[in-house]
Amino acid sequence: MKTVSDAALRDALKACLVKMPPHVLLTKLGADELAFIARTWPLIARDEQLPPDFHDPRARWHTWLFMAGRGAGKTRAGAEWVRMTVLQALGSGSGPLRIALVAPTHHDARAVMVEGESGLLRTCARDGPHRPQYEPSRRQLIWPDGTIAQLFSAEEPDSLRGPQFHIAWCDEIARWRQGQKVWDMLLMALRLGDHPRVMATTTPAPVPLVKRLLESPQTWLSRARTRDNAANLAPGFIAAMEARYAGTRLGRQELEGELLEELQHVLFPRHLLEAAREPATPPLARIVVAVDPPAGRGENSVCGIIVAGIDAAGIVHVLEDASQRAAAPLRWARAAVAAYHRHAADRIVAEVNQGGDMVEALLHQVDADVPCRAVHATRGKTVRAEPVAALLEQGRIRLAGTFPELEDELAMFEERIAAGRSPDRADAFIWAVTDLVLRTRAEPRIRCL
Ligand SMILES: Nc1ncnc2c1ncn2[C@@H]1O[C@H](COP(=O)(O)OP(=O)(O)OP(=O)(O)O)[C@@H](O)[C@H]1O
Ligand SMILES: [Mg+2]
Repeated sequence: MKTVSDAALRDALKACLVKMPPHVLLTKLGADELAFIARTWPLIARDEQLPPDFHDPRARWHTWLFMAGRGAGKTRAGAEWVRMTVLQALGSGSGPLRIALVAPTHHDARAVMVEGESGLLRTCARDGPHRPQYEPSRRQLIWPDGTIAQLFSAEEPDSLRGPQFHIAWCDEIARWRQGQKVWDMLLMALRLGDHPRVMATTTPAPVPLVKRLLESPQTWLSRARTRDNAANLAPGFIAAMEARYAGTRLGRQELEGELLEELQHVLFPRHLLEAAREPATPPLARIVVAVDPPAGRGENSVCGIIVAGIDAAGIVHVLEDASQRAAAPLRWARAAVAAYHRHAADRIVAEVNQGGDMVEALLHQVDADVPCRAVHATRGKTVRAEPVAALLEQGRIRLAGTFPELEDELAMFEERIAAGRSPDRADAFIWAVTDLVLRTRAEPRIRCL
């Protein structure tokens, strides 16, 4: 029997699809052929989602970097590559393999790479008896042929000391906190078989590890934009992402998958804050007072209190920075309630991570009738700040005056975080804008296939 390479089969099937629509083609195929199509990733993958040796069987690559926009199909490509490599090793008798799976955190490794909707369990589910079992307590996946994939967190580079691997798949390397160190440890552990190699999937960010890989002649680079995967994303996802990010530098990074210099360090550049100043404020549809309570009561502790409103056109206007320095709890609670009345606000939004129920209780002790919404910071400060920074860049945030201390904190947001100093006024500002604009808009979701 003549063996047909996957590439040839893929080309033949694609040629058939040019001649007849998929629904007609599908009626002409038998059960085995349909099952084959469902099983075979190369038939549905886009070119950039397939490894270098698929395009050129002689390619001897060491690092494959798939750098692409959000939802562009990075994780799926990574999981499918691991799956194909395991099946190929099974077919050629070169297994069982030892595999490293590295994510920014243990949670990401499990929730995205293993159990996520583009992760390994789902991707391999169609392999019947050849699919892996997940052993959470041992942080590993084990295939029936004895192949083992171990999960690692990039927060623990030393855990890569000791084990050895044939291949590794690394997800979201631009978010690895100790990127270079983890990568170096991983390379030292990639020493089994005659062709050790690593695939890295990531949204770009100008961090040293990504820059280093891009400069290396050993790296094979694939790129994609979010919209390249539009057919597989929930309707509305692209529109919602584009509405949020279009025309911004962040959009070029998150949607186009471009690597932009210095983006990380200036979320709120001074020239944009200057440009946001307005001489007069239009009537506002809704006003909130956002409160970021201080962690302690030291000389330098600040309770961030920012008043902002939104107009009929959806533009946010920052009205007042009523933040309080070194204030006792009752004093900042009074200041927040006073700001609420002064601006005839609709409610107070208070971050409760520091004080739990205390914060709301304090505000109600000052005025039992003030409507409060407690918010919890579940995501990192920078992640919360990014969509707000995009709004500033789109000209959808205005400053009704000069707020020197708030503007300083915003302009030096990343530096302050890196130095371990909490940007309290900036945090309150981000809560205010989030409540006014972003909270009501449902987060776009990725459709499951
Ligand atoms: N070629 C493809 N054919 C069919 N579905 C695909 C293809 N590529 C990706 N998908 C699907 O598109 C969705 C998004 O893919 P995936 O999760 O891999 O994107 P991502 O780039 O990792 O996203 P994020 O930026 O959120 O990490 C998933 O449901 C995935 O299964
Ligand atoms: Mg992903």
